[in-house]
Amino acid sequence: MERVVEVEKIAFDSAEDASLRPSEWDGYIGQSAIKSNLRVFIDAAKKRKEPIDHLLFFGPPGLGKTTLAYLIAREMGANIKTTAGPMIEKSGDLAAILTNLGENDILFIDEIHRLSHAIEEVLYPAMEDYRLDIIIGSGPAAQTVKIDLPRFTLIGATTRAGMISNPLRDRFGAHFRMQFYNPSELAQIADRAANKLGKPIKKDAADEIARRARGTPRIALRLLRRVRDYAEVEGETAISRDRAYAALDALGVNEYGFDALDLKLLGLLVEARGRAIGLNTLGAALSEDGATIEEVIEPYLLANGYLERTARGRIATIKSYEALKLSPPSVSNQAKLF
Ligand code: ADE
Repeated sequence: MERVVEVEKIAFDSAEDASLRPSEWDGYIGQSAIKSNLRVFIDAAKKRKEPIDHLLFFGPPGLGKTTLAYLIAREMGANIKTTAGPMIEKSGDLAAILTNLGENDILFIDEIHRLSHAIEEVLYPAMEDYRLDIIIGSGPAAQTVKIDLPRFTLIGATTRAGMISNPLRDRFGAHFRMQFYNPSELAQIADRAANKLGKPIKKDAADEIARRARGTPRIALRLLRRVRDYAEVEGETAISRDRAYAALDALGVNEYGFDALDLKLLGLLVEARGRAIGLNTLGAALSEDGATIEEVIEPYLLANGYLERTARGRIATIKSYEALKLSPPSVSNQAKLF
């Protein structure tokens, strides 16, 4: 099912996405705790004239991990190269990337938990000692050749903190958990982006996009682009609240930011009236794989109290019955079920 609120796990860079990305540190809205920590790391590294320590970002897709990596590079005056775990298939692929880095460059690896064990092994000495150990030949004649690498910074990003191996996690100097954005931050992001697109947006229209964007800038920007299309077709100079409402309804994103897939998932859970449903069962019912449900659909619902994960499976909360305008199971009924 194509979803207007889908967030791809690996950020792809359309030219327009890149042009909407803030190019200044101060233009990056939200994540204030992370930003202030990074500010200290950046200033200290610059003072020491050293590359910044390796950094690991985790959290649901679309929250601005790549954008932050670009801003860090800019603040450090460094070049940035980006790749993703699934794109590095052989250790030679990684060796080629590492040997092409320059002094102080930043290497950004998205979905870093998808690196194979063998490739992680290549990364360890590179991260610790800026050294590449290449094994030539095999068996008793095998030789290790050591190649010095420039001092670089690895920035890793992952949607699955739990899937990063301990040795890899330990080699990062700092870990940051990205937070969902609040509606006021998302409205500011939509407002700035609308101006960049040359189609200003009224405040109440930006607020409406923010409310339906599931705490996620990438979704807010996508909804904005679609709403802008409606405004353009109607010849509106600034996007109005009514236009935003109508466009968002037409796109099938409701006032909670739920689309058809969220509603189907919550619908299954509320129908179970307090019984837990396992991930595999949900996956089969929604024709989605378990990882997509866990990494893409559920984090927002969980963070906002629309469902609970238990050892036996997922359960709808009172809030999700309310969102679907249904009455929750009676307390005595719930008690019998547990
Ligand atoms: N675009 C995407 N994420 C953003 C953020 N956090 N601040 C400003 N613009 C953004």
